[in-house]
Amino acid sequence: MKKITIAIDGFSSTGKSTIAKQLADWLEYIYVDTGAMYRAVTLYAMRHGFISEASFDSDKLIAALPNITLSFKKPDVFSKAEVYLNGENVEKEIRTLEVSTFVSPVATIPEVRRKLVEQQKEMGKGKGVVMDGRDIGTVVFPDAELKIFLNASAEERAKRRFNELIQRGDQVAFQDVLDNVKERDHIDSTREDSPLRKAKGAIEIDNSEMNLEDQFHIILQLAKDRI
Ligand code: C5P
Repeated sequence: MKKITIAIDGFSSTGKSTIAKQLADWLEYIYVDTGAMYRAVTLYAMRHGFISEASFDSDKLIAALPNITLSFKKPDVFSKAEVYLNGENVEKEIRTLEVSTFVSPVATIPEVRRKLVEQQKEMGKGKGVVMDGRDIGTVVFPDAELKIFLNASAEERAKRRFNELIQRGDQVAFQDVLDNVKERDHIDSTREDSPLRKAKGAIEIDNSEMNLEDQFHIILQLAKDRI
């Protein structure tokens, strides 16, 4: 069977990673969560004091980029690959609301994007890959055989993210999660370098009122039609 590239883009908390992982498991493809890579770089910047509530020293982060190595490893065959920052598993740390607050400003830096896009292209060069993010169909794999653009209302997305954080045991207020979702939407779609856009040829799916199973079957069929 022919192997293809599947690009899934969309606003934050549209359920991209859940669908992408299910699809990759079903097709026996590699799954790459590119948001995790931007989050890991952000965690590095926070730990080194390059970014805080008070300031963001992007020059220091750019200078430190050669010291940042990212990799993925699956804890077992059934699980999602977890992200490693310089050999340390940071999967849990990168999912906090604090990292979510700083990640979009970090992702506006062209040097950061260039480094991560290069690694993403390398990871997907053999095809047989499902990659999710904001610029996969527009920049990383503009020739992907299947491009999906997921969307849902900001309130619905914030509700999903809030429930995830509460389930993890994080103490967060719904309004803060909603504000963060809206703030990231704004920064991600208005930045100069690789703004979040529906790619040429992408199929848009609004999943505000759709359950996971229906969504999965629609996207799986679209993939099968191209294999
Ligand atoms: O997908 P996730 O919500 O984890 O992504 C976190 C942030 O990383 C996004 O809000 C966006 O600022 C950035 N990002 C990006 N390009 C990607 C993936 C994520 O700019 N391909």
